[in-house]
Amino acid sequence: MKIRFLGTAAGGGCPQWNCACAECVRARHEGADRTQDCLAISGDGVAWYLVNASPDLRTQLLRTAELAPGPGTRETPVRGVLLTSAEVDHSLGILTLREAKQMAIYGTRTVLDALPWLPILDHYLTVDRRVVSCGEPTHLEGGLTVTAFALGAKRPRYASAHASAGDWVTGLRFTDSCGGSLTYAPCLYTLDDALTVLTEAADVVVLDGTFLTAHEPVDCGAGGSGHLPIQESLPLLQAYPGPRYLYTHLNNTNPVATRDSPHQIELAKSGAQPAPEAGLIEL
Ligand code: MLT
Ligand code: MN
Ligand code: ZN
Repeated sequence: MKIRFLGTAAGGGCPQWNCACAECVRARHEGADRTQDCLAISGDGVAWYLVNASPDLRTQLLRTAELAPGPGTRETPVRGVLLTSAEVDHSLGILTLREAKQMAIYGTRTVLDALPWLPILDHYLTVDRRVVSCGEPTHLEGGLTVTAFALGAKRPRYASAHASAGDWVTGLRFTDSCGGSLTYAPCLYTLDDALTVLTEAADVVVLDGTFLTAHEPVDCGAGGSGHLPIQESLPLLQAYPGPRYLYTHLNNTNPVATRDSPHQIELAKSGAQPAPEAGLIEL
């Protein structure tokens, strides 16, 4: 399978348009740009699926050669979008796909029902809603199989009036026909119940690296974050040394995102890395 990291930052990206924090100033100065978290994945290099759809999706699609259209005028390798949550930064990009004739959107019933932009998208194209149930494998084109697992009920802020129960957040485990496997969990509140499913038999685990420390969201005014900081997840992962661990959904306050920062070097010593913006891995 091939995995392209379309974006690796949390909501707002880095630099964030209205932020002059040290990390955003440095990123602006260096011309570094982490766009908002999502992936493209393929089992055969022909049929591709977007995993989440960030507000930066147009830029991400245009810079990714594998996702270029053709040979037919309106032929696209993008076969569908799989959503791990209904958060704005993970789903708003589906509106960017409105020039398509048809698009398959996969998500839990809770997520598909909550998304405000899905009924809007219905006016532009045929939206094929594919309901995903945790624990039940779904077969995708190109030899990929995906299975969702529940990661809690952290609702987007706009959805606070919705019933709180349901699978608001999931992780996705992909396997291909050659035995390769990738687990993607960009929103983790706790690893109490998820550690086994996250780490078992995965070649690569891409997980929530929003914040490095527990005090970071408080310091930057984000309040209670709902994201397990790297300093708490990393020691737990070290008991499972098999997979390669890549942190994504990096907030613009997180020094691990900055190239060659002492924090990034320290992380590498522990066997984990920030996910490479625009990078490709092949399993
Ligand atoms: C989150 O990851 O907690 C949300 O995406 C925050 C946001 O709405 O930007
Ligand atoms: Mn987010
Ligand atoms: Zn900033």
